[in-house]
Amino acid sequence: MKETLEHKQLAHLKALMTSYETHLAAHGFDGVLIYSGHPHRHFADDQHASFATYGHFMHWVPLQGLDHSWLLIRPGKAPKLQLHAPADFWHLGTELPDEAWVDAFSIERVATPAPPRLPAGRFALLGEVDADTAKALGAELNPAALTQALDEGRVRKSDYEIACLHEANRRAGLGHRAAREAFFEGGTELDIQLAYLGASRQRESDLPYQNIVGVNRHAAVLHYQHYERTPARSHHSLLVDAGNRFRGYSADITRTWAGGDASDTFAGLIEGVTTIQHNLTKAIAPGVGYPALHARMHQELGALLGELGIIRCDAASAVEQGITRAFCPHGLGHLLGLQVHDVAGRRAADGTELAAPAEHPALRLTRTLEMGMVLTMEPGCYVIPMLLDPLRDKAAGGDIHWDAVEALAPHGGVRIEDNVLVTNDGAENLTPVI
Ligand code: GLY
Ligand code: MN
Ligand code: MN
Repeated sequence: MKETLEHKQLAHLKALMTSYETHLAAHGFDGVLIYSGHPHRHFADDQHASFATYGHFMHWVPLQGLDHSWLLIRPGKAPKLQLHAPADFWHLGTELPDEAWVDAFSIERVATPAPPRLPAGRFALLGEVDADTAKALGAELNPAALTQALDEGRVRKSDYEIACLHEANRRAGLGHRAAREAFFEGGTELDIQLAYLGASRQRESDLPYQNIVGVNRHAAVLHYQHYERTPARSHHSLLVDAGNRFRGYSADITRTWAGGDASDTFAGLIEGVTTIQHNLTKAIAPGVGYPALHARMHQELGALLGELGIIRCDAASAVEQGITRAFCPHGLGHLLGLQVHDVAGRRAADGTELAAPAEHPALRLTRTLEMGMVLTMEPGCYVIPMLLDPLRDKAAGGDIHWDAVEALAPHGGVRIEDNVLVTNDGAENLTPVI
């Protein structure tokens, strides 16, 4: 029988219960109460900010955006979901889907957002909850050791989670193709964003992060946050870093396109960064240290900058002098799951902290790769004046062809980002061809 998503989800929930039972016993708890969280209200207003349900809650309950709800996990008992169902004629009440996972829970609908009363015993309380509430419940709020253990339980994805990440990628792929088309039809950044949302069938508040849609120099702003509404005067480049969420699981994909005014060097840069991305993805396997892949990205980027006539020193010297870090200040990637920058990227499985190297503070994944991890691979190269200009007065400045840098600047930069599963002997790319 073909295994459906529902079968995978039931197996996921069963394994999750076994894992929770182990951790609760190890940390001496009789159970854990997990709060979904709720949206914050704008100051002096009756409108709410956008909201993301707490990751550990969604690890069990596949309803992204569910708020004011509580989940009680106790060994040997069905998970108990207290669903917020206010008597409210302003909004549509929460409706549960007709799916098998619902039967695996004991579900109570309550009109009040207050937490459920806990049975006798020692309970942990996880989530964004104030200390007074925890005290009134007699529970320990966000105990660090248990939280770390449960974070670790999110690092290696179940078959269900991999299927969700696959689907999020498929939908994001539809958006990226539409975004590319909108750019080549002369669309503004806002047009491109709207085309992306339409083709990937999601509203903006459903996105796992705010899409980055950068035309020309905006492509060099790593987390560019605006959507220009007037057409750009030139057509150098487009960088789209945009995602999708399926049952809480995120896609995080970036593509960069050369426009009609792009130089050959920029086209070569896109091709070169894409090759680096492919080479590094091929090197993924269990046992490989991610920081070593990040270091290799800098070596390959140094070689590429030389080949394109942007620098005149060799790769090793470009890395050593900090030239490649000025062209690419972010990490090669990060763990991906219920959060875009998923939990436990900088801890070993036993909880030991694995700090980012001093010269690469933005590296979010410092672990050795294991089968079942899902991560991003996102090498980039940008002209960021704030980072490059300080090199002008240093020895490294003599190794940079500044004319070439200035010619590249109107293109902003390049990032190519895919989402990759570590398999038993290599990697599977979850991102479709775009
Ligand atoms: N979209 C954010 C990132 O790539 O990490
Ligand atoms: Mn991204
Ligand atoms: Mn990313």
